[in-house]
Amino acid sequence: MNIVVFGAGAIGSLFGGLLAKNNTVVLVGRHCHIQRIQQKGLRIKGKTQKLIQISAIENPQDLSITPEVVLLTVKSYDTEAACHHLRHMVRDHTMVVSLQNGLDNIEKIKEVIGQKHLIAGVTTQGVLFEEPGVVTHTGIGTTLLGELDGAPSERLQNLICVFNQAGLHTQMSTDITGEIWRKAIINSSINPLTAFFGCQNGYLLENPVLEKIVEAICTESSIIASHEGIQVSPKEMISRTKEVIQETALNSSSMLQSIQQGKRTEIDSINGALMRKGLGKNIDVSLNRILVELLTSFYSIK
Ligand code: PAF
Repeated sequence: MNIVVFGAGAIGSLFGGLLAKNNTVVLVGRHCHIQRIQQKGLRIKGKTQKLIQISAIENPQDLSITPEVVLLTVKSYDTEAACHHLRHMVRDHTMVVSLQNGLDNIEKIKEVIGQKHLIAGVTTQGVLFEEPGVVTHTGIGTTLLGELDGAPSERLQNLICVFNQAGLHTQMSTDITGEIWRKAIINSSINPLTAFFGCQNGYLLENPVLEKIVEAICTESSIIASHEGIQVSPKEMISRTKEVIQETALNSSSMLQSIQQGKRTEIDSINGALMRKGLGKNIDVSLNRILVELLTSFYSIK
């Protein structure tokens, strides 16, 4: 398959690097990372160890293949701009696969690209951006992909095969919207807490005070989700969140990585979006609100 990874940061580089085994892959990303990959290849360390020679470009206009799949892995605040850039690559049968954190990506992609191209996904793979050209695979997670209407389409099944052949544990979801919400609930505690306390994911269960806060945030976020018609229970989400924390114990969350790199965070698409949904339904959003306020007042990177 011809695959373009749009947003080759930590997650995008891991997926692109592994998919390059059996596919023609082009990474699109930022200057320093792309330049180093062009010079020395992409190095994946940790749970996966590989040095991969892979095409990498900075400017989407330099793309020389017609993609069958565009893997969208940009940060949620860049989704709209990315969609405008990649619009010209999309042909009748192109699939645009979102593997992003946050609750507002799908609407933005639908608006610019159109729903028929869209496959939605979530992943619990843990990846750390070490330095330009190098990422570390810190936690082997699972990826779920689904059509928005839940259909087990042929294109979806083919895509799942391609991901599994690359060694990316991938399953079909018939409720991908629910999974995006469940992932946002998981991210709503792990990401801001690790960002704020500057700790790896695993520390959230080593510190009993933080463990209680994780449980309280999970509960609030799950209640918000269930008022939006998502089938979740706080108990189930607390245990799923703890599983992800254990599986990615050595990972620095994407939000902590953003803070450490002096970049904007995805707080608005995760806790901000949960807060707005909850306010719309008149339910308690005090924990999500505090997290948004803390993160934005301490790290006001626009
Ligand atoms: O955003 C992240 O960092 C990831 O979604 C996860 C699964 C929390 C692992 O760090």
